[in-house]
Amino acid sequence: MTAIEELLRNNVKWRNEKERVQPGFFSALAKQQRPRFLWIGCSDSRVPANEIVDLPPGEVFVHRNIANLVVHSDLNCLSVLDYALNTLEISEVIVCGHYGCGGIAAGLRDDPSQSLVEHWVRHVRDISKFYREELDSQPCEVTRARRLCEINVAVQVVHLRQNPIMADITRRREVRVHGLIYDVADGLLHNLTHTVEGLRARDPSCRIGGK
Ligand code: CO
Repeated sequence: MTAIEELLRNNVKWRNEKERVQPGFFSALAKQQRPRFLWIGCSDSRVPANEIVDLPPGEVFVHRNIANLVVHSDLNCLSVLDYALNTLEISEVIVCGHYGCGGIAAGLRDDPSQSLVEHWVRHVRDISKFYREELDSQPCEVTRARRLCEINVAVQVVHLRQNPIMADITRRREVRVHGLIYDVADGLLHNLTHTVEGLRARDPSCRIGGK
């Protein structure tokens, strides 16, 4: 059996089980999607959005990229954000980072690689430079990388809150932006409210923007 044949077989099994437990599940979903959450996460294969929060298809609108970045000029991310807020009318937005993130580790390395991905990782490198003092105060490389994973989420939350699409929608209704971090080593998600608020307290430019 080829890899794709295996996937197709798995799909039929999964689909049949879903219909057995909840008859009409797919025909109901086909009529419309009404997700409650927008998820902006890392492309890492160990952090599948729906699965780690145990939500079925139809509940999470997802955007993923290396190191879960909200880059101001990323048309892909901006389109997802615009559609999620203005068409799907989602009110809960999540930025989810994860410990052990390869993109974050690459952004911390002193010797930038020559590969294309370095162009993307440069956003992380900029954050690591900006928060160098706090990162240098960490006792070892492991905790430094973990702390940058957290700070990166907080920075992306601030980017979202300051985004013009977000600013426009929050004049009309409430949208909440949450920063979470997932530990691939134990499968647990943690709220980063403290880190986000810490960032806002320290840096005046982070205070502008919504909730
Ligand atoms: Co990652």
